[in-house]
Amino acid sequence: MTATNRYDFVVVSNRLPVDRMVHDDGTASWHRSPGGLVTALEPVMRASQGAWVGWAGQADLDLEPFTFDDVTLIPVALSLLEIEHYYEGFSNDTLWPLYHDVIAQPSYHREWWDAYVEVNQRFADASARVASLGATVWVQDYQLQLVPRMLREQRPDLTIGFFNHIPFPPYGLYAQLPWRTQIIDGLLGADVIGFQRVADAGNFSRAVRRLLGYATRTPEIRVADGAGGHRTVIAKAFPISIDVAEFEEIAGRPEVQARAQQIRDDLGNPSTIMLGVDRLDYTKGIRHRLKAFGELLDEGALSVGDAVLVQVASPSRERVAAYMQLRDEIELTVGRLNGTHASISHSAVAYLHHGYPREEMVALYLAADVMLVTALRDGMNLVAKEFVACQLDEGGVLILSEFAGAADELKNALLVNPHDIDGLKEAMVAAVRMPQRERTTRMRALRRRVRENDVSRWSNTFLDTLRHANHHSSAR
Ligand code: G6P
Repeated sequence: MTATNRYDFVVVSNRLPVDRMVHDDGTASWHRSPGGLVTALEPVMRASQGAWVGWAGQADLDLEPFTFDDVTLIPVALSLLEIEHYYEGFSNDTLWPLYHDVIAQPSYHREWWDAYVEVNQRFADASARVASLGATVWVQDYQLQLVPRMLREQRPDLTIGFFNHIPFPPYGLYAQLPWRTQIIDGLLGADVIGFQRVADAGNFSRAVRRLLGYATRTPEIRVADGAGGHRTVIAKAFPISIDVAEFEEIAGRPEVQARAQQIRDDLGNPSTIMLGVDRLDYTKGIRHRLKAFGELLDEGALSVGDAVLVQVASPSRERVAAYMQLRDEIELTVGRLNGTHASISHSAVAYLHHGYPREEMVALYLAADVMLVTALRDGMNLVAKEFVACQLDEGGVLILSEFAGAADELKNALLVNPHDIDGLKEAMVAAVRMPQRERTTRMRALRRRVRENDVSRWSNTFLDTLRHANHHSSAR
């Protein structure tokens, strides 16, 4: 056996925080992935000798641990079949739709569950191997809900945190899951289980009471430890955020502001640019927003040339059937809208099926007058917070779905129920017509809120709770 380095702080997530690019000459290089989690955890990683356990995003890559930007990355390999069953199947065609209010029908397949158990065990083993005695291990998201229990069984010395980035469903829906008890039990291996919203933590505690009969006294759950005693697990909301200073800095750069002006010019300088930025996912309510926008054009409340909708839909999970179908539907709708309303010189909808670097996203946020976040269900929605952080001139209007976690904090947005198309249209018209004074008042309040709770506060609060929780249990 080779000697392995051990780390005091280990983050475990399905994806590593880097993307692998293979070049034309066959060589490969790593690039930091755009996600916010990397930024959130980087300072903690550096301060505490951290390692990150995760999948490198491609099949059958059996890689040795390596260092990137001073952080040790520990790759976990997945075969093609495991990608199909564990990632595309159980994670993204069972749990994802189930946890997002069954917007799409979840599929329940026993082979997918078997792969989920097997891959979770592999992540747990890899983490157990690299964690030092008494280390803190922080497991991320729905793909790895069995890891906390599996880790505790091997390594009772560890302090284990779990954070669920997506919603946790009400019991009436959660109860569909044939493996509902195993998942709850898997999560309860953690000392602290974090959720985005207070409602998610409540849904989880209810599921624990119903399925396992444990007593809960918010935020504590008394869990039988298997040896006749009890441990206390904390289940609580820790709303995630963004690196506000980084977005403000990019938004203040002259070249990014010039790019925003160029985007406006290229669109023909309409009086209103509406913007949607999403992964192409059925949870995001892209169809609802297109429908509302299309009806406003039909009725003449908005007109092409005067208003345009820029919709960035970044490619996502393209081998999962529900995503393929969604793409077809969206592209058909955009084609019809443009066919009906566009002119030679002006589009109704500028639809972009690409991902963009952060600077370009910020330029889009600066170019936009109205940001449309119309998710049917969303754990948090960081796009809403990014848009707000970039409004240095406090000029933009945010339309925000009440079904996104961000709505708990961003109450000065125009809050909408995206299923109510008339309500959504009213909010869009109100946003376009909103007087400057009201825009400023609302945006100022939103900016204050986003600045107060930025991502370092999120990670610090979670890790403080984790430290305290473990201390509390072991003191008994
Ligand atoms: C959501 C999930 C993340 C996931 C991301 C991208 O934000 O909460 O865990 O990484 O979507 O999805 P993907 O399937 O490409 O990792």
